[in-house]
Formats: sequence, C-alpha cells, structure tokens
Amino acid sequence: MQGKRAIRLLPWPVTLIGACHEGKHNVMTASWVCQVSFRPLLVMLSIAPERYTYGLIEKSGEFVVSILTEDQAEVADFCGSRSGRNVDKISALGLKTRPGQAVKVPVLEDCLANIECRVMAAHPAGDHVLFVGEVVGGSVVRPDVSPLLMLDWKPGKFNPIAEK
Ligand SMILES: Cc1cc2nc3c(=O)[nH]c(=O)nc-3n(C[C@H](O)[C@H](O)[C@H](O)COP(=O)(O)O)c2cc1C
Repeated sequence: MQGKRAIRLLPWPVTLIGACHEGKHNVMTASWVCQVSFRPLLVMLSIAPERYTYGLIEKSGEFVVSILTEDQAEVADFCGSRSGRNVDKISALGLKTRPGQAVKVPVLEDCLANIECRVMAAHPAGDHVLFVGEVVGGSVVRPDVSPLLMLDWKPGKFNPIAEK
C-alpha cells in the first residue's frame, strides 16, 4: 500500500512530553505533536494509553511540550525507548529542570522551547488518544538552534533521505 510508504515521508518534530503527578515527573519522546488552533492557542498530542506518561497526563490534566534541538537525538532515543515506570529518565540523563510558569510540570532548561499546556479534551484515535491542550505558558530557550526533525523514522537536520 503506497499510503504506508507515503506517510513515512511526513516530517515529524521531535519533542519531549513532560508530565507530573503526585511528585513523579517523567518525560517521553513524542513526534505526533502539532498546533491545531490559533484562538484559543491549542496543541495536540497523540499518546498511546500504555505509555506511563499517558496516566500522568490523564490524572494531572497538564503537560509540557519541550521541542528538542538538532544535537539532542540521543536524548530523544533514550526517552523514547525506556519507560518512566522502570527508569527515572530525568536523573539518568541529568536533565536540568526548573518550575513551569503556568503549570505544575517542570520545564527543561536545555531545549529549543517549552510549551506549557492544560488538557482541554481527549479523543480516542485508533490505538492512540489525542490530548488537546490549551497553551497557558511557555519559554523560548535556544532560538538560535535548529529543531530536531524525523523523516522516514530517521532523525536528521533537514532531509535524511536526500543524504543517502
Ligand atoms: C522519535 C520517537 C517518537 C515517538 N513519538 C511518540 C508519540 O507521538 N506518541 C506515543 O505514544 N509514543 C511515541 N513514542 C514512543 C514513546 O516515546 C515510548 O514508548 C516511551 O518509552 C514511553 O515512555 P513512558 O512509558 O515513560 O511514557 C516515540 C518514540 C520515539 C523514539
């Protein structure tokens, strides 16, 4: 089916989704993240219910989207292949955090930008759930650096396919 091949050519951002409940702060890598409205300012995440992060977002009603930079592929790999159920990813990677402005979820000190969100709605979508979040705060951390992108399941700066 060409659709399966074609969808792999949709470029993805690479972000860490931070969530926090009862003192437990966790981050997971997510690429199915995008802006979906100007007024109000909304973003959408697609999160599988089996992720540890899913329960933290569901219980707290908040999350932070930290946009990763082109030099953070290893962070994305680590946080996208281990679960916060078994590993404290933030300590293991030595990620520095500071309090969020508008949410209880801490934000990352090293990333392109942090987007602070409050959950407005959740919609089942196949094997994932779409969390729609209203942007209630944020910080631009390293605007001079390029974002980390993914294409065809490979991390890259622009177009990893063209470099083959
Ligand atoms: C590049 C990349 C992008 C990912 N994007 C998503 C995503 O958008 N939604 C999702 O549910 N899982 C996504 N994952 C998988 C989760 O990051 C992974 O299952 C993670 O271990 C879940 O962590 P947690 O159990 O601590 O929440 C992605 C993984 C990688 C490597």
